[in-house]
Amino acid sequence: MSNLKQVVVIDGEGIGPEVMAEARRVLRWFVSEGKLGIETRDGLYGAEAYRRTGKIVPDDTAAALKSADAILFGATGGPDYDALPPEAKRQGNLLRIRKSLDLFANLRPIVAIPALAEASSLKNRVLEGVDFVILRELSSGLYFGEPRGIETLPNGERRGVNTHSYTSGEIRRVARFGFELARMRRRRLCSVDKSNVMEAGQLWRQEVQALHDAEFSDVELSHMLVDNCAMQIVRAPAQFDVLLTDNMFGDILSDAAAMATGSLGMLPSASFGPVGADGKRAALFEPVHGSAPDIAGKGVANPLGAILSVALALRLSLGEPGAAARLERAVADALATGICTRDILHDGGSLVGTRAMGDAVLAALARTEA
Ligand code: IPM
Ligand code: MG
Repeated sequence: MSNLKQVVVIDGEGIGPEVMAEARRVLRWFVSEGKLGIETRDGLYGAEAYRRTGKIVPDDTAAALKSADAILFGATGGPDYDALPPEAKRQGNLLRIRKSLDLFANLRPIVAIPALAEASSLKNRVLEGVDFVILRELSSGLYFGEPRGIETLPNGERRGVNTHSYTSGEIRRVARFGFELARMRRRRLCSVDKSNVMEAGQLWRQEVQALHDAEFSDVELSHMLVDNCAMQIVRAPAQFDVLLTDNMFGDILSDAAAMATGSLGMLPSASFGPVGADGKRAALFEPVHGSAPDIAGKGVANPLGAILSVALALRLSLGEPGAAARLERAVADALATGICTRDILHDGGSLVGTRAMGDAVLAALARTEA
């Protein structure tokens, strides 16, 4: 066994390959310049993988994922993926990867970047001081609950069913993660639910409160209904520190929150499984944006969500917080020069493509001190 940390890089579909090419270049820069003990290997995934191997997640990708110290994932989805047989998707896809690695804690940091204030749909004064983390439960809830499916009723009508289900254990483990995270930040956690309508939401609120009272009373806890939260995210996002959500609500609220950063294309994410007997935990890092098939292959996608996901991997799984901070500074420096991809184009900015944005980050890295 080598002592090198193993990173598996998966391009995926849509704009995945383009943005991951830039993420790879950045990671390679750190390995060669910073002499980091990291070894990368590529993993095949998606519609292309299915064509070649009959599986969306081929066996050797699945095996590599299991032993990786960190997984970098591009994006999944789009017309080619949609056309794959449902059976193949059930066997293995991004959601199955999340489930099989038990990635229950998904972190989506939302930080307003001054250079992008003009790219945001929110007013400058609303953006001031925005720095929070959405902690999304990722392994349960509406995404995975049973029963699910589409059935034909006796009267010939069809019915689609999904189940919003959470156990107290599932709620507590993500809430614990959230409280511990809050302790490393500003010690405030806001838990989101729909307890005025849903039983699963009532249980969510009760369990979060009970864990707080038993073990985390030093953290300031508040509860917010999800509809109000959607409004608060665009009204006064600076009020949040750690925002704890279930799987579905976190998916929706993180897209809305992205506007505080100027674009969904800016958001990185990190997902963690439980700590295993060997002290290691599965960790997957992916931009939040998804596959964006409409702009795929055009070289215009924003690679910064993917590049900032590399920073999260360096900090949270690869034991390189210094490199992570340096990379985040380089991204801020690159943006401060006024360059922007299409999604963050603003008055006074100069438009560049995916590769040129990667170039700018690498140039900024070369300028920064370790
Ligand atoms: C996300 C994405 C995914 C999700 C899709 C691609 C399945 O929207 O990570 O936010 O819904 O979880
Ligand atoms: Mg989403």
